[in-house]
Amino acid sequence: MNQTAVRPDLRAFMSAALRRQHVVGAIAPSSPVLGRALSAVVPTGNASVVVELGPGTGPISEVIHARLAPGSRHLAVEIDPDLAAHLRRTRPWMETLYGDAADLGTLLAKAGVERVDAVVSTLPWSFFPGDVQERILGQISGALAPGGAFTTVTYLHALPLAGARALRRRLRAVFDEVLITGPVWRNIPPGIAYVCRRPVDAAP
Ligand SMILES: C[S@@+](CC[C@H](N)C(=O)[O-])C[C@H]1O[C@@H](n2cnc3c(N)ncnc32)[C@H](O)[C@@H]1O
Repeated sequence: MNQTAVRPDLRAFMSAALRRQHVVGAIAPSSPVLGRALSAVVPTGNASVVVELGPGTGPISEVIHARLAPGSRHLAVEIDPDLAAHLRRTRPWMETLYGDAADLGTLLAKAGVERVDAVVSTLPWSFFPGDVQERILGQISGALAPGGAFTTVTYLHALPLAGARALRRRLRAVFDEVLITGPVWRNIPPGIAYVCRRPVDAAP
């Protein structure tokens, strides 16, 4: 991405972080290295449907976009109205859906999407109460196509926190396969990526 786009992104990030730190849940936009770790599940060969949860100012969106084959759909669900407006202005190539990841099924139905090939999340899981974590994971597992994959990040410093431990337990309850990649040191703060496949209660 070019330098002229970087400054408006930083301004949008600072403004959202100051207004809603508990919703944004990060001290800086993600690095391209973390973006590549999380976006490795995005198919490159064929047209696919990819959902991004919590795109913020779009650093991961850029990496996803670079991987997508022609004819793909890239939907991004963002709960902050100003960030959603910023994304619509600066990334017209993706479909920004203003809303809550907890309503993913409804948002996708409105967008005419039945199943998705990959879900990439940078949601601030540690800030979510248990029932919200469960609801969002249920929506993700319900949206994934057979063979689809879900990735998300937890920051290293948050790993001992109750919310992060609860997330790991829930991922293992919801998905048959949960792989951990990283740590990704070149990110502020460093994090690990979870790569999850095969929801256990998915219809055959
Ligand atoms: C840690 S920031 C990540 C931003 C960006 N993807 C990045 O990697 O730099 C989390 C983002 O998730 C958004 N968010 C928080 N709760 C959400 C929810 N329930 N549904 C959708 N987006 C949410 C926040 O507004 C913020 O943009």
